[in-house]
Amino acid sequence: MGLVISTVNMKGGVGKTTLTVNLATCLAKNHGLRVLVIDLDTQISATLSLMSPHDFAKRRKERRTLTYLMNQVIRPNLKKKLTTTDIICPYVCNVKGLDLMPGDIELYDEYLVSEMLHQKATADGKADFDDVWNKFEKNLIKDILEPVINDYDFIIMDCAPGYNLLTRSGIVASNFYLLPARPEPLSLVGIQLLERRIAKLRENHASLNINLLGIVFILSGGGIMGRYYRQVMQRVSQDYNANQIFKNRIPLDVNVAKAVDTFKPAVLSTPNSGGAKAFARLSEELLEKLEAAKSLTGKDSAKLNLTQLE
Ligand SMILES: Nc1ncnc2c1ncn2[C@@H]1O[C@H](COP(=O)(O)OP(=O)(O)O)[C@@H](O)[C@H]1O
Ligand SMILES: [Mg+2]
Repeated sequence: MGLVISTVNMKGGVGKTTLTVNLATCLAKNHGLRVLVIDLDTQISATLSLMSPHDFAKRRKERRTLTYLMNQVIRPNLKKKLTTTDIICPYVCNVKGLDLMPGDIELYDEYLVSEMLHQKATADGKADFDDVWNKFEKNLIKDILEPVINDYDFIIMDCAPGYNLLTRSGIVASNFYLLPARPEPLSLVGIQLLERRIAKLRENHASLNINLLGIVFILSGGGIMGRYYRQVMQRVSQDYNANQIFKNRIPLDVNVAKAVDTFKPAVLSTPNSGGAKAFARLSEELLEKLEAAKSLTGKDSAKLNLTQLE
């Protein structure tokens, strides 16, 4: 069964999408793994990092984006024509094993979701709206993944900043979350806020079994800034155990930012750049981490809690 990972941070612009697409590509290309990227952000950056705007427009015209699956859930009376498999775009960037579920600029209408759930709660008579909502949140992404989860080694979901319905549902469906962060004080507040939200989510969903796979630091600048960032990272290492912070950090590298012009992640467009090499090392570290935890605890990957390593 595929290991499901959400890339999350309450803040935008910290490198979630860049990490998602480069890591997924390395796992497929360098390690021969089957990887599905799911774009849960209406900014569709993950989609446009792996396919051209022209190809995306074509897909959208055919309605073969995540929106189609969302509509099926929100309006269950619609006649179903497509399944999860039909929405998935295989072999993106010509990489064997790398698949994409394209996102969309409009994923769902919050008003329609509320209305549908209200009707459901009323129809069920005594059903409490909160219960109906929690159940919907719990199953939304899980149900979308269910038909394909066995086809992949990894499913990586690129979440939107903030904390919307899809992020929550994605977290509930995940075994792990990856937390990219810039080593700045406000970014650390973002980490703490996210941890609190996940703790709260645990209260609503007894089945929640998600663990932090690790914080990935995206560095920016050397010199005096570098010294300052080291101090901030030092502070984080006091709050987390060593296994929860990736040793490999991602440097700021213009090749990483420019890669989107080629409709490919930097690990494909400029594999020898510093940024691309850092992503390749990070993907190795991630696999080693999971392997070490597996052999130490004897558990399958989905049940691993990496804090057990210490
Ligand atoms: N390592 C990096 N080097 C250079 N630019 C980067 C790097 N990581 C991210 N960026 C750039 O920073 C911006 C925000 O990154 P992105 O991954 O879209 O963040 P998020 O998904 O958290 O909003 C993008 O323009 C991206 O190209
Ligand atoms: Mg993003």
